[in-house]
Amino acid sequence: MAKLYITDTILRDAHQSQAATRMKTEDMIPACKILDSIGYWSLECWGGATFDACMRFLNEDPWERLRTLKANMPNTKLQMLFRGQNILGYKHYADDVVEQFCKKSIQNGIDVVRVFDALNDPRNLEAAIKFVKEYGGHCETAISYTVSPVHDLDYFVKLAETLEKMGADSICIKDMANLLLPYDAYKLVKKLKENISVPIHLHTHNTAGTGDMTNLMAAQAGIDIVDCALSPLANGTSNPSTEAMVATLKGTDRDTGLDLNKLSEAAAHFRKVTDRLKKEGILDPKVLNVDPNALLYQVPGGMLSNLISQLKQQNAEDKYYEVLAEVPRVRKDFGYPPLVTPTSQIVGTQAVLNVLMGRYKMISKESKGMLRGEYGRLPGEVNEDVRKLAIGDDEVITCRPADLLEPELEKYKEESKDFAKSEEDVLSYALFPQVAKKFFDIRDGRVKASAAETEQKADTNSVREIFVQDIS
Ligand code: CO
Repeated sequence: MAKLYITDTILRDAHQSQAATRMKTEDMIPACKILDSIGYWSLECWGGATFDACMRFLNEDPWERLRTLKANMPNTKLQMLFRGQNILGYKHYADDVVEQFCKKSIQNGIDVVRVFDALNDPRNLEAAIKFVKEYGGHCETAISYTVSPVHDLDYFVKLAETLEKMGADSICIKDMANLLLPYDAYKLVKKLKENISVPIHLHTHNTAGTGDMTNLMAAQAGIDIVDCALSPLANGTSNPSTEAMVATLKGTDRDTGLDLNKLSEAAAHFRKVTDRLKKEGILDPKVLNVDPNALLYQVPGGMLSNLISQLKQQNAEDKYYEVLAEVPRVRKDFGYPPLVTPTSQIVGTQAVLNVLMGRYKMISKESKGMLRGEYGRLPGEVNEDVRKLAIGDDEVITCRPADLLEPELEKYKEESKDFAKSEEDVLSYALFPQVAKKFFDIRDGRVKASAAETEQKADTNSVREIFVQDIS
């Protein structure tokens, strides 16, 4: 077998998973030179929750961050995470917005776009795959991994075959919740390698403490690329550490060829960043603990902490275990969606409502949308009684949901014409209208940053939830 390639997530998932996505561009720049010399397959540095967090919490232009990273790391492929038809937001956008976002991401420096859909509905990936390739990017198409009666080995192999036919340049097994156990990883990767000819890439976490073993078994089975994070922000709710993987494979037929001294030099920089984040209370050491509850309840680590905070707000912390037991029931009623943004939020919130108000006495707007088919085809059979309670006799959408959306880029251009200074600004506005407008006001000197900061602090609690919960 050939060498194993590594993608490092230190600039995206690592700080999203452990530090509420608060790493600043200035925290990244001093490490760029060394990172660029390591020889990673790619560096994940953009997309996911970073785009929103840049503007909302850090007063930074996400596009400017991307251009800066590209200028400082010309030799390494830069990778982003993209939520299919949701782009980086929480709802479906029309195809013209998806096209413009793919185009601008690639023009500003992205090489690899990892596209996933929470429901694994290939129709939600169609537009993104087409446009990433059209504008010259590498389209890595992801399978959202989960465990359920409908998600067996055959299901994932068939899905991967479909994605390959649709034009995927590589396929990622995206195990955002650390549910893929080591021996299952071996079986899945073996089977995919027998049936798929494009490279296979594994993304797992160490929430339950099994992540390193999963990566190792996948390496044994012939996986091409795995995701790791440099040690200062690795493990726990984050990805397994790069250094441990590199050291483990040294001298074997899967030797990564990466230099541990260089990794150590890069890690030394991020240790300083991590120390600051700890001091500021942004990085709670709790996220470093292994939590086997994630396996028991099949709930991603980030969702556990969010359920606790939702219950705290309602003075109902004693209902925690009831809610945890309710999550799998809701998931079953909804046809077993994988739990990843935005389905993790929808299912989690519905479970809380069911426990606090009585089962389906109150059904959220998002739950109704999901049962109506607005997010795409649900993987398994839906509980028709629950669907009836949610949407009555409304017709269920069976077409590609984005086919129902009129082009909307012109509308966003018109709405933002007084404050958007570039085509990139229009996209920032399209995805996060209020956050972007506030950010532009500060950037362009219409509002003082200090005034806006006070205002932001006021709603930190409600906003933080989204981030604690942003699972990818
Ligand atoms: Co992840």
